[in-house]
Amino acid sequence: MVRRYKYPRFLSRPRGYVVLLLLSFLCTMYSMLHFIYYKPGRANALLYRYQAMQETVIDYVYYGGIRRRKTEKNMYIIYIYIYDIKGSASTPAQTIPYLPLNYNYSNFDVCPEKFPEMKGQIYVNMTEIPLSEVNTNFSHIIQHGGSWEPHDCIAAWNVAFLIPFRNRFEHLPILFRHLLPMLIKQRIKFSIFVINQEGDDLFNRALLLNIGFVEAMKIDHSFDCFIFHDVDHIPENDRNYYGCTGMPRLFAEQLDIHGYRLEYEDFFGGVNGVTTQQFKNVNGFSNQFWGWGGEDDDFYTRIRHYGYNVSRPPNNYGKYQSIVNHHTQERQYLGRFSRLKHSVERNFIDGLNSLHYKKPTIRHYPLFTNISLKLRPD
Ligand code: BGC
Repeated sequence: MVRRYKYPRFLSRPRGYVVLLLLSFLCTMYSMLHFIYYKPGRANALLYRYQAMQETVIDYVYYGGIRRRKTEKNMYIIYIYIYDIKGSASTPAQTIPYLPLNYNYSNFDVCPEKFPEMKGQIYVNMTEIPLSEVNTNFSHIIQHGGSWEPHDCIAAWNVAFLIPFRNRFEHLPILFRHLLPMLIKQRIKFSIFVINQEGDDLFNRALLLNIGFVEAMKIDHSFDCFIFHDVDHIPENDRNYYGCTGMPRLFAEQLDIHGYRLEYEDFFGGVNGVTTQQFKNVNGFSNQFWGWGGEDDDFYTRIRHYGYNVSRPPNNYGKYQSIVNHHTQERQYLGRFSRLKHSVERNFIDGLNSLHYKKPTIRHYPLFTNISLKLRPD
């Protein structure tokens, strides 16, 4: 006897199907919102990737591979751009002559910004390794606590690297493995600070950076340049010079997960740097961005409001790869959009001049100084 499959009774009426459709729609919406809220970085990356692919297709169809790009002066320039849909923009040949190998400079000269060993594209290796291995490779070069300075010339900048941090232990060795050799090649005098937020409260990247700034200045008040560096951003080109300039600088101009494009014209996140004076002039970051997102947009408004423009690395040097594994992402800060509407009004009452925090624990490790503390929204 053939057994007949019995549908659930509610599906025998048309209304049953409507209910089923509605339920699956609600489930999809819920999963999407959950993903956007808990994995905002991934969600953004997917969105930018999608936009990049769309633009690429349009370019090929309408312009035959000729891309329009906005310059800093808000004018369009036309340039030939060969873009691969998988997401990596082809690197233009790096033909700019760097210093010849026999170039001479004395110990009393300020280090130049270009050295022959800065070859351009570097090999990015995302394999996880223990920190102890990187310590072994570098601790005979780097001073305990994470400082280094050149001895064959006078460093042009004394840079404090501030890395906002929570639970990304597997990322630190990957970053160090690429960053340290690059800085040494560039003859940058540097100190590395990891600013660690303890506990489970909402993450506040900008507040950590303000605290890092104040604490680093207590340790060495001669820092004249600060670079705020996300731990999961790995530089791809050693000609991306990690010194400051007359204008605040966005180092991470093109990220692989965003299709190697500038996310948007006002983007100022990931890896950026300012001189000590510039940071003081804009009153640092806002302290009020709890959760993922918005603090960098607010910082951009401060910078522009003070009259600065953003500078970016030349020749596509500002390319970075993002470490995507093990992303315990911070939750979205949904209130950021309304807060961003009042960035200008808040600028001089919210920042370095309104900073309060409990004394952090400071520990020196072979390759960095760790500034650790708990933060809690008021
Ligand atoms: C957020 C920024 C973030 C940017 C790029 C924006 O929506 O507000 O904080 O850097 O997306 O991912």
